[in-house]
Amino acid sequence: MTIDSTEDLFVDGLKHAYYTEQRLVDALEELEGTSTSEELKSGFAEHREETKNQIDRLETVFEHVDASPEGEEDPVVEGMIEAHEEFVDKDPSDEALDRFNIAAGQKSEHYEIAVYGNLIPMADQLGMDDAADTLEETLREEQDELEALSEMGEQFDYGELEVSE
Ligand SMILES: [Fe+2]
Repeated sequence: MTIDSTEDLFVDGLKHAYYTEQRLVDALEELEGTSTSEELKSGFAEHREETKNQIDRLETVFEHVDASPEGEEDPVVEGMIEAHEEFVDKDPSDEALDRFNIAAGQKSEHYEIAVYGNLIPMADQLGMDDAADTLEETLREEQDELEALSEMGEQFDYGELEVSE
């Protein structure tokens, strides 16, 4: 398929976003499962639910361009998942893994913010105001999640970890 218009670029970007969000539903479960801090676990669980809504939103955006929802493998999200698996294989302490998981979540949010930050102006250029608004909702959730994770990272106390039963 040749990509030579804003609409082509937009649809290509949507496919990558759709794939990425689907992979992140599983990745967030993994982050939740490998975290020890209750605050961190519930944060990942909550964002996992938001991510499912983000997938639904992308499906409505596909409708705006008369395309059926379809994912295209995204090597960036695959690389992030692989980096996490490699770290877990190093047999880190609970605290180290919690701190790594915060950073892993932040990296994914930064990536998603860049993805949506590009899709939104393209939707605007294509005159798709509703699609742009829909994507904005998701962008705001990603920004809020990044902020929450950044706070947890800044306040991370290696000596006073809240350990779940
Ligand atoms: Fe997301």
